[in-house]
Amino acid sequence: MYRLVRKILFLIQPERIHDLIMALLGILRNVPFAGALIRALFCYRKPELKKEVFGLTFKNPVGLAAGFDKNGDRYNDLANFGFGFIEIGSLTPEAQPGNPQPRCFRLVKDEAIINHMGINNLGVRHAIEELRRNKPDCILGCSISKGAKTPFKDAAKDYVRCLEFIYDFVDYITINVSCPNVKGVTKLQDSDNLSEIIDKMLELRLMYDDYRPILIKVSPDLTKEQLDEVIELTLISGLDGIIATNTTRDRSNLLTDQATLDKIGEGGLSGKPLFEKSLSTVRYIAEKTKGNFPIIASGGIMTPEQAKQMLDAGASLIQVYSGFIYNGPSFAKKICKYLYKSKKQASASK
Ligand SMILES: Cc1cc2nc3c(=O)[nH]c(=O)nc-3n(C[C@H](O)[C@H](O)[C@H](O)COP(=O)(O)O)c2cc1C
Repeated sequence: MYRLVRKILFLIQPERIHDLIMALLGILRNVPFAGALIRALFCYRKPELKKEVFGLTFKNPVGLAAGFDKNGDRYNDLANFGFGFIEIGSLTPEAQPGNPQPRCFRLVKDEAIINHMGINNLGVRHAIEELRRNKPDCILGCSISKGAKTPFKDAAKDYVRCLEFIYDFVDYITINVSCPNVKGVTKLQDSDNLSEIIDKMLELRLMYDDYRPILIKVSPDLTKEQLDEVIELTLISGLDGIIATNTTRDRSNLLTDQATLDKIGEGGLSGKPLFEKSLSTVRYIAEKTKGNFPIIASGGIMTPEQAKQMLDAGASLIQVYSGFIYNGPSFAKKICKYLYKSKKQASASK
């Protein structure tokens, strides 16, 4: 059924249809029983799917990745589609327009997306206004980033400002240092730059009465040495988890023809071709941390089986973005159902 709907949706430019759907969700919010109906159709509730990770209880391990609800104004509406958690953002201290359009492209043959959005968002204060008006009824994370115009040397100040604003309103915070679409952001993963950001954020956290987990989101394009450094820093500093991974710059082995890729130009690739890279990053981090450190897997999860592969590789939770676009509104439910059945089968065969 969704395949048919998808054909029509895919006739419209990705960013345009995304905005239309977000607007529609806003309208549905005011329609009596619409939310309840969506929940009845798309939520799969089983106590066996509950997970405790970094001190939070997730009703299921399937989250919606950052970048979908960039401004933080549709988290409850999106949670109705069966997600165990939603990550809003990435947010920057001030609103910023992002890169010129068009900046988001579907590679249908590859079941992938290339985006060069450039962290367009209405700024952290906009999100807070919504969060004050509309209390989250799901676990809510917030991804924060450096502003595009902020000089590299002042990057840490942007993360600190975002953290100060958002801290009291969300359940966890993610430091996004892996977006390939804003100049200099991925360079923040270098250990000197990263340790300044992390230290400042953790210092600031000490001032608050309530504890909020702080995570870091890494690129799938790091070398082993770079990833080792990030893991070491993460463990030593006292961060609470790693999200692996963001989009990739790698364009190898795509089915889409080169002329189309050239026309698209720069951008981060997500979806099916990213899966193996993200999976091996998750596996590597899990091995390095001896399976004792929370990992959220993100990248190319397009089937329930791939969601399970990520969890089996050592992830505590997973996040989807492209898989939601390509599989439709029942994707989280399908994953949850599959995970539940696998769990039941495994315990029956013991
Ligand atoms: C259009 C688009 C915008 C995105 N924006 C962000 C963002 O603002 N911050 C972030 O951390 N990740 C962002 N991402 C990356 C996703 O959160 C996710 O990590 C990535 O797409 C890999 O997952 P997937 O293969 O399931 O899509 C974006 C992805 C897409 C496709």
